[in-house]
Amino acid sequence: MCGIVGYLGKRNAKEVLFEGLRRLEYRGYDSAGLCVVSPSGELSVVRVVGNLDAMEKTLESFDTHGTVGIGHTRWATHGAPSKENAHPHTDCKGEIAIVHNGIIENFVQLKAELEERGHVFSSETDTEVLAHLIEENYSEDLGEALRKSLERVEGSFAVATVHKDSPGTIAAARRDSPLVLGFGDGEWFLASSVPAFLPSTRKVVFLEHNDVVVIDSTGCSITDLDGAEVRREVVEVDWSLDSAEKGGYKDFMLKEIYEQPQAVAETLRDKFDNKKEVIVEDLRMTREEALELRRIVVVACGTSYHAGLLGKYLFERWAALPVEVEIASEFRYRNLVVTSDDLVVAISQSGETADTLAGIREARRLGACVVAVVNVVGSQMTRESDGIIYTHAGPEIGVAATKTFTTQIVCMILLSLYLGRLRGTVTDAEYHAIVDELEVIPKKMEKVLGSSGEVSKCAEKYYKCDDFLFLGRGVGYPIAMEGALKLKEISYIHAEGYPAGEMKHGPIALLDADVPVVAIATMDSVYDKMINNIEEVKARGAPVLAIASEGDGEIVKICNDVLWVPETNEMLYPLLTVIHLQQLAYQVAKKRGCNVDQPRNLAKTVTVE
Ligand code: G6P
Repeated sequence: MCGIVGYLGKRNAKEVLFEGLRRLEYRGYDSAGLCVVSPSGELSVVRVVGNLDAMEKTLESFDTHGTVGIGHTRWATHGAPSKENAHPHTDCKGEIAIVHNGIIENFVQLKAELEERGHVFSSETDTEVLAHLIEENYSEDLGEALRKSLERVEGSFAVATVHKDSPGTIAAARRDSPLVLGFGDGEWFLASSVPAFLPSTRKVVFLEHNDVVVIDSTGCSITDLDGAEVRREVVEVDWSLDSAEKGGYKDFMLKEIYEQPQAVAETLRDKFDNKKEVIVEDLRMTREEALELRRIVVVACGTSYHAGLLGKYLFERWAALPVEVEIASEFRYRNLVVTSDDLVVAISQSGETADTLAGIREARRLGACVVAVVNVVGSQMTRESDGIIYTHAGPEIGVAATKTFTTQIVCMILLSLYLGRLRGTVTDAEYHAIVDELEVIPKKMEKVLGSSGEVSKCAEKYYKCDDFLFLGRGVGYPIAMEGALKLKEISYIHAEGYPAGEMKHGPIALLDADVPVVAIATMDSVYDKMINNIEEVKARGAPVLAIASEGDGEIVKICNDVLWVPETNEMLYPLLTVIHLQQLAYQVAKKRGCNVDQPRNLAKTVTVE
């Protein structure tokens, strides 16, 4: 939800900021802006409606050479996407510029107070109140003015601000929304996430809640909101630059689909000792503690929620524990019955999603142990959870999650096997069969990726349809949900994911020759049941595209199209079948002329409730 950047150094700030924003565009792209400060204190502000292509054109005639500045790419919350509402925002006199990610919850009250004192507002945003507060609080020290202003603010923020009378200074702060500080050679960077400045440095500080940082040409100082100095560790991130660039692919989403075998291999790396026993380092649970567990509660949103739904099948099977899977926005606002006997598993690519984060806090308040399955290193959830399992997928830029989904599935597998071994609930034979199969799964994923031509033919056949139904049973059901979500997210086609057995209680009424049904029908324990459901679909005249196991001679006879996956263990099929569904959504969206990396109305990271 919005990306912010800041730069102070020797280079042309306009260019550095724009490059940074390009790498943050996944966070929002309905408008953008930046402010460059000249050495004499002139603030040059540019704001445009639309994505960064629009901004690039405007910047051609934006003649600034200042080496200090801030920038923003927006996903609208308060106020429609318009030039007036685009950041940076300024005060009445145009002396201050500020960029903000988050929501100032008491802005209505603050705005009323400020207006009473004569301030005139030029936008509908919550952010603008901060510019006016800083205007009132400023007397030579920008950091102090920011601190004083933030005392009045309720809500979440990552902000960066400049002032014409402090031309060589940027002051920034965060609470809840992320902010990372990067250290170059005589230059400093601020950004909502590391990829923004990855070409320049890997040395970073992940700023903490209520940290205020002031940067000038002599360096940077970090304080708390009272002005007391705080020390933060500088860490070196190991994300490669390649991983944050398209590297020859047309879109990030396509690149990320193809990165899955490697991402899965990376997530599996070092997860087994030399006796092939699974290691989940951060959990450090004893056998006694594992035996005392009464329940697992999974909390997540979007695609991560689908990984959680799949986790239910895995935890129940191998760890023999009851599992509840909760959409985070529903979890947080009710009378929760969570206790210290529960293990709460929070799944999130970004580690920032507001609802999931709130769920973590609530679960911990009630005494549960929380383990976060997260992709972004150092993100907020990693700080607020008892244990962390990283997905090691590398940066995911495409708004529609792909490689983080398959690596989340791997984490679900690892965690359920780990608990199953501790609790003695998974048989040796099954355990070793899974572990052996995991070794070859990346190769099998590569094989699935090799049949993109077949997927393209299916996309060609069906891309003009207005509705799709995705059906699955067992572990195929969460994959059907995910396939439908991918399709609607990026192609804007109405799609529903349904448990196949439930189809006859409603969705079957929607079927006719114009509604393709995508059926996950791999060779597993519910295969026969799936075939029955496919027959029910056929009887209503709807075309069926099946995702099936290689060597299945029967399915070709009853389905209109089949996409094959290599045979694997029943519980691991999702790692293969979902690839076809991602590719299908991608190909359909491309044929419909959609922007797959930046689908309308969506943002990759949702830091508002
Ligand atoms: C947004 C993204 C989805 C993502 C969801 C949850 O809706 O567009 O791709 O699945 O947020 O995000 P998280 O970072 O918590 O996994």
